[in-house]
Amino acid sequence: MDKSAAYKKLERIRDLPTLPEIAMKVNRMLQEEEITIERLCETIEKDQAIVSRLLKLVNSAFFGLRSRVNTLSEAIAMLGFNSVRNVVVSVSVIEAFAGKTGDFDVKGYWKHSIATALTAKKLSELIHIGNPETCFLSGLLHDIGKIVLYQHFKEQFQDIMGLMSQQNISFMAAEKEADVLNHARIGGYLAERWQLPRALIDTIKFHHQCSNASSDQDMLMVVHTADILSNAFLAEIKDRKYISELDQSAAVKMKTAIRSMQDWLPGLAEEITSACRFFMGEESSISGVQSSKQKDEGKETGEEDL
Ligand SMILES: [Fe+2]
Ligand SMILES: [Fe+2]
Repeated sequence: MDKSAAYKKLERIRDLPTLPEIAMKVNRMLQEEEITIERLCETIEKDQAIVSRLLKLVNSAFFGLRSRVNTLSEAIAMLGFNSVRNVVVSVSVIEAFAGKTGDFDVKGYWKHSIATALTAKKLSELIHIGNPETCFLSGLLHDIGKIVLYQHFKEQFQDIMGLMSQQNISFMAAEKEADVLNHARIGGYLAERWQLPRALIDTIKFHHQCSNASSDQDMLMVVHTADILSNAFLAEIKDRKYISELDQSAAVKMKTAIRSMQDWLPGLAEEITSACRFFMGEESSISGVQSSKQKDEGKETGEEDL
C-alpha cells in the first residue's frame, strides 16, 4: 500500500483510538480562555477512578510534594491547570490503551513512552527550554501512531518488525526501508483528531525529524532527544544504532545535559522505575543503569558513557 492510499485509509477508519471523554473535555477546557478551578473540578469529578488515580499520583514520590493533597481542588491549586491537564490525559490514555493491543508488546511500548516522557521532562528542566510538564505529555504520546499502525495496518507492521530483526535497525529505519506511512505522521493525525494543542501535534508528527518547522521547536528537540536516549537506556546503552539517529542541531542544543548524564541518569532511572510501577504495576528494566541507591552502595555497573 503506498503512502497516499495509507493516508486515505487512515481518514476512513472509524474506530481509531479515541481519547477518553474526560481527557478530551479537560483538554478542550484548558484551551479556552475562561477557566476556573470549580469548572475543572466539576468535569474531572465525573470520573472518580481518574480522581483517585490523580490524587494517588500527586501524593506519590513522583511529584515530591511536601504536604499531602486530599482533594481535587487542592491538587489543581497546587499543580496548576496545565499539569492537571497533563496528568489527566496521561492517566486516562495509559488506562484506555493498556491491554487493548493483542499481541503488540504493550508493556514494552509504555515503558519506552514513560521513559521518554520522564527524560523529556528532565532535559527540559536541565536546559531550561520548553515547559517540563508539556514535554512529559509529548514524550508520553510521541509514538501513539504505533498503536494505530499495529491495529489497522497489520501487514505493514509485520514487515517493519521483520526488517528490524533481520537488519538490526530501529523501528523508524525499518519504516523508511519498507516505505510506509510512518508512525509519527499517523500519531500526528491522531493527535489532530483528539484536538490536542498544536505544539503537541507537531512534536508527535516530527519527533524523528527536527529539521521540520514545528510550532514549538524547543519541545520538538527535547522530545526527539529524549526518545533516542530512552531507547538507549531501555535497550543497551552501548547500542549506538539509536544514538546515530540523533539530529545534529538537537545534539548541539542538548550538549550540556548529555555531557552531564552520568550525574542525572541514576536518579532518572529510579523515577522511571517508580513511574512504570505506578502506571503499569511493574518494574522497568533499564539495563545497566545504576540507580542512585546502588551508586551510594558503590556497586559496579561497567557502564560506558554515551
Ligand atoms: Fe517514534
Ligand atoms: Fe519512540
